[in-house]
Amino acid sequence: MRKLAAGNWKMNGSAAALAEVGALIAAHPAPACEMLLCPPATLIAQMAAAARSSALQVGGQDCHPKASGAHTGDVSAAMLKDAGASHVILGHSERRADHGETDALVQTKAEAALAAGLIAIVCLGETEAERDAGQTLDVIGRQLAGSVPQAATAQTLVIAYEPVWAIGTGRTPTLDQIAEVHAFLRARLTLRFGASAAQMRLLYGGSVKPSNAAEIFAVPHVDGALVGGASLKSADFGAIVAALSA
Ligand code: PGA
Repeated sequence: MRKLAAGNWKMNGSAAALAEVGALIAAHPAPACEMLLCPPATLIAQMAAAARSSALQVGGQDCHPKASGAHTGDVSAAMLKDAGASHVILGHSERRADHGETDALVQTKAEAALAAGLIAIVCLGETEAERDAGQTLDVIGRQLAGSVPQAATAQTLVIAYEPVWAIGTGRTPTLDQIAEVHAFLRARLTLRFGASAAQMRLLYGGSVKPSNAAEIFAVPHVDGALVGGASLKSADFGAIVAALSA
């Protein structure tokens, strides 16, 4: 399995920010892990052009479940692919919160992504209140069962465990807490998909930065990271790529 360092720019970045991408590509011509950046939809085509014949892959942050039609403001998986994307993040907690996305909707989006030939990065994670109430594994299990399409394979599905309370806060779970959730995810995926689940990438996300990346990557069943804030600076994201490649 090749590990994956994925960056989520969220609603940040302009054409000028693509200089950061040039620096990242130049500094990491052949990393041992996969390297992916997911900019806003407006930048996908330009970033994909800048990344052509480099090790950098480009992804979207959401897609509509339908391939085309009267859905003002939305972007389909086929359109992301057409613009040069290879991956799409789905079910991020900010979309679940801001747009009321349910597990069932995330699942239909993931099905659309697979049908369009994209790799789906399905996000899940508990809130602080759910963790405090001892419900973490229940929540994760329910999200996993409801959001992941049956057609998923190790080649087309990536899971990102992102505790909501760790996103953008500078707080991270303990390494034991990350290990518990990732082992649980691997076990549930194995029950559902069999031996191929061993090859499904399980990313940790939430306040990953150069200073904590190596210890998080040493946790069993952590196969990479989904990085928000630290992916906006090529030096920081590059350091995370280097830690995952070590
Ligand atoms: P963060 O975001 O790295 O800024 O905490 C992670 C994410 O939301 O994917």
